Amino acid sequence: MCGIVGYIGDQEASPILIESLRKLEYRGYDSAGIAVYNGSSINIVKTKGRLKDLEEKLEGRTVKGTVGIGHTRWATHGAPSDENSHPHTNGDESITVVHNGIIENYMELKDELISHGYVFVSETDTEVAVHLIDYYYKHKEDPVDAVVKAMNKIEGSYALGVLFKDHPDLLIAVRKDSPLIVGLGKGENYIASDIPAVLQYTRDVYLLEDEEIAILTKEDVKIINKNKEQVNREVFKVTWDVAAAEKGGYDHFMLKEIFEQAKVVKDTLMPRLPENQNRVVLDEIKLSKDELDNINKIYIVACGTAYYAGLVGKYLIERITRVPVVAEVASEFRYRDPVIDENTLMIVISQSGETADTLAALRLAKQRGARVLGVVNVVGSSIAREADDILYTWAGPEIAVASTKAYSAQLAAMYLLTCHIALELGKMTEDEFVSLRDELYQLPRKVNRVLSKAEKIKRLADKYVHSKNVFYVGRGLDYMVSMEGSLKLKEIAYVHSEPYAAGELKHGPIALIEDATLVIGIVTQEDLYEKTVSNLKEIKARDGKVLAIAVKGNTEIEKVVDDVIYIPQTHWMFTSLLANIPQQLFAYYVSTALGHDVDKPRNLAKSVTVE
Ligand code: F6R
Repeated sequence: MCGIVGYIGDQEASPILIESLRKLEYRGYDSAGIAVYNGSSINIVKTKGRLKDLEEKLEGRTVKGTVGIGHTRWATHGAPSDENSHPHTNGDESITVVHNGIIENYMELKDELISHGYVFVSETDTEVAVHLIDYYYKHKEDPVDAVVKAMNKIEGSYALGVLFKDHPDLLIAVRKDSPLIVGLGKGENYIASDIPAVLQYTRDVYLLEDEEIAILTKEDVKIINKNKEQVNREVFKVTWDVAAAEKGGYDHFMLKEIFEQAKVVKDTLMPRLPENQNRVVLDEIKLSKDELDNINKIYIVACGTAYYAGLVGKYLIERITRVPVVAEVASEFRYRDPVIDENTLMIVISQSGETADTLAALRLAKQRGARVLGVVNVVGSSIAREADDILYTWAGPEIAVASTKAYSAQLAAMYLLTCHIALELGKMTEDEFVSLRDELYQLPRKVNRVLSKAEKIKRLADKYVHSKNVFYVGRGLDYMVSMEGSLKLKEIAYVHSEPYAAGELKHGPIALIEDATLVIGIVTQEDLYEKTVSNLKEIKARDGKVLAIAVKGNTEIEKVVDDVIYIPQTHWMFTSLLANIPQQLFAYYVSTALGHDVDKPRNLAKSVTVE
């Protein structure tokens, strides 16, 4: 996730671009940059770091010109650096581009462009876009045709803002699977990734749809589709205030991030699962098949929510590949003198890439000769730099303190790793992989189906809001996911809750079940279903209340429990991702009903860089 902005009009563009970017910094803060056209050249000023670093670099001066584009970066391809910052330009600096999204086929396009003599100066996927547009433009296309042709070649997601030196009164914007709006002024127009960027200038916007192109001059905005047919779009009048607009109209960042999960899962999975190759494309991982053959033990080490994602990874990798896997919290692992050698693979999982205990565990494992693979969301973070191999989750910045979309992206990464290791070790056939991959393709759509139950989950949260003790129970993968559900309720709703392996209840905790004790039972695993249902019956027999999360079609459960939330059917390996979403929404609605500050829960920080 990055933020892009653009301006065309009669005013100096650079202060407008900077102010617009300020409202988009929540979309990324790895680098910032602007490009402004002064009638004879397009001047780019950009830097690694936050917007304030860009302002320092500008030292209060205005880059002259009344047309410009700007960018605030959340790094995906290429670490945060000056070279990887946007805007990017072509060889003769006649075309300049800002981009938000992920170009999935950029390696292929890059090779093609290099064979045509193009020289790349950054590690970004974006640079492919600017050279591709240049390629078509130099082949006698007009600017719009060049952009459309490039669009047709690019696979993945993008929102682009494009300036052409030959066309001083023109700003082209285009989108697919990344947000983009056009702000409408009088004698001036704007583009932005999100409404807050333009609210101080206008409340009239066009919401662009996928594969539409906006052609902006200072007097006019024309929208066309990729067949170059004109699109008539109604003006959308923004009535929200700036604070609400930053949250995309949601009441909290947490809710916004919960609702971003279909996209996050898609972004993390799809580039690694191309249809034309029967393998998981993890080219960023250098660990060879021979090296994997020599691995006799895997540790998965992390903290909090990331650790719970690791538990799902442990369950899947061990069960499918038959390599022993130990999952452990980093704060324990690092102090207990674990058995590690050069045949150990250590997987560390971290959203921030900066968690002190996880980083220390990584260093310990490396010192003892283990190979370390990081599953990290923040590109260029300490863990990303120090791990031997890296698999990025593409969740974008997570603003709410409680992790939601990062967990889903981490699970998606665990699915990819399981399939990758199993294929490499010959523990999964190509046919088995292809059928799992087809199921993974369906996952984003199924995430949206679970999200469509938000209203029902809110009603259930209202019904159970006064529960003093809540148990989350399940078996196998359902037990792993119950831990994340319980953590979410504790941390944002301040309700005491405990996750339990359903079969363990009768070894002690069942003594706590009494009238009105709420138990959330997760029952998505076919092979363990009957066993867990027996445990839920034991709870009902002691007057406990049971809210079940079950797979659609399994209506028998309704006879046993008080309430059920259904998730769509999927392969048993992937239910955790879907079953967790009702847990997130449940915790969210309980927290808001109790009047808590959901985005900033008490005593918690987003990144724990102390031991
Ligand atoms: C809970 C939560 C934390 C983090 C943990 C690890 O909602 O966010 O439990 O998961 O502090 O953080 P990262 O993933 O940044 O290492």
